[in-house]
Amino acid sequence: MSTFGRIFRVTTYGESHCASVGAIVDGCPPGLELAASDIQVQLSRRRPGQSNLTTPRDEKDLVQLQSGIEQGVTLGTPIGLLVRNEDQRPKDYSETDLYPRPSHADLTYLLKYGVKASSGGGRASARETIGRVAAGAIAEKYLRQVYGVEIVAFVTSVGKIHLPTASTQRQTQGEEEDDTGEDPLSPEFVKLLSTITREEVDKFPTRCPDGPTSERMTKRIIRAKDAMDSIGGTVTCVIRNSPAGLGEPVFDKFEATLAHAMLSIPATKGFEIGSGFRGTEIPGSKHNDPFMARADGTLGTKTNWSGGIQGGITNGENIYFRVAFKSPATISQAQATAQYDGTSGTLAARGRHDPCVVPRAVPIVEAMAALVLMDQLLIQNARRATANLLPPLDYLPPSMVLPPKRVLEKLAEDPGAEAVEVTSV
Ligand SMILES: Cc1cc2nc3c(=O)[nH]c(=O)nc-3n(C[C@H](O)[C@H](O)[C@H](O)COP(=O)(O)O)c2cc1C
Repeated sequence: MSTFGRIFRVTTYGESHCASVGAIVDGCPPGLELAASDIQVQLSRRRPGQSNLTTPRDEKDLVQLQSGIEQGVTLGTPIGLLVRNEDQRPKDYSETDLYPRPSHADLTYLLKYGVKASSGGGRASARETIGRVAAGAIAEKYLRQVYGVEIVAFVTSVGKIHLPTASTQRQTQGEEEDDTGEDPLSPEFVKLLSTITREEVDKFPTRCPDGPTSERMTKRIIRAKDAMDSIGGTVTCVIRNSPAGLGEPVFDKFEATLAHAMLSIPATKGFEIGSGFRGTEIPGSKHNDPFMARADGTLGTKTNWSGGIQGGITNGENIYFRVAFKSPATISQAQATAQYDGTSGTLAARGRHDPCVVPRAVPIVEAMAALVLMDQLLIQNARRATANLLPPLDYLPPSMVLPPKRVLEKLAEDPGAEAVEVTSV
């Protein structure tokens, strides 16, 4: 399907070499001030040709707002977003008339639809993600303005080179289980998640916010490019100031929808949330996130190995996750493979290709995170607004209803205090 979301619904359209690509965004709240420049910022971070680390395909990716906006304000009606494909070169792909590219989507699209776009990756091309990024920028504008939400993604690895503080790899000594309970992520990395900004990320062409590591990653990508090869990597993303209570258990738990969103991005191969796979090595006594009263009177957690989500519902802590991107499939190095008709042969793909997708994947990951958050927020706000019209349930035992605000405020002043005063929230 080309549509994502239930209330904030985004439909993307377009192939890599057709006239234009874009999206229709339905369900955007009316009255949001919105200009093309709000969207262009993220499209320009995604566009090809930004540095010698990305494909030389030259596209400015300028967005045109087609509908749903007047006098710089959203009308609540579908917003049409259009970006022209300007640097199409279908002839670059003539070998692929004979050969399906290994590990690309040429053969599977043909098997599925029985017919496919004549050149490039068609819908499987990263050009499709333009519609996502444009729609995500609209969601983000609302989330930032109303809730102060901040979404920042950055590159945490290229090949075997990892941002040192983010490494979740650990060597096991001997066969004994080690229960000393090392943190799954270093304290420096946890701090980075709370402070990192897009400006800091964009200081580096790799979008890895650490000078020496970024330089090593740059060399690694250039090495792949010079060898007419490609290399993969990971992107980590943090969502700060997310409201609590978002996520639709059981099948649309927040992390399940995030994983769905992230694994729908082309070239993704893995997703982990919070302490992720590394967390499995830490005993529960060290891995649990104990509760504590926050200054604003709500309950928070002292640590956040859960990644801001418990039971599929956001708890108000930072949400952070990591996405793995494979080495791009299209390489100019000769590969022994087979033609569509089964004849063995050698393919050396021409065309312009990314030797590594992670620097450009950063705004795509941010956009998909914004789309998940926005949709889940609109669903939850509809539920709460409807429930708030009902009389208070103050006869129910305390474990059954949300604690009244004044009780939580008292706990914040003195966590040991027995709070008794009851008012409605
Ligand atoms: C930002 C970005 C850029 C990409 N650039 C290329 C590319 O230049 N060449 C290529 O073969 N694949 C590229 N891809 C990946 C393909 O779109 C994708 O891998 C391919 O359609 C196969 O689908 P799958 O890997 O999701 O199974 C890119 C992906 C992203 C997210």
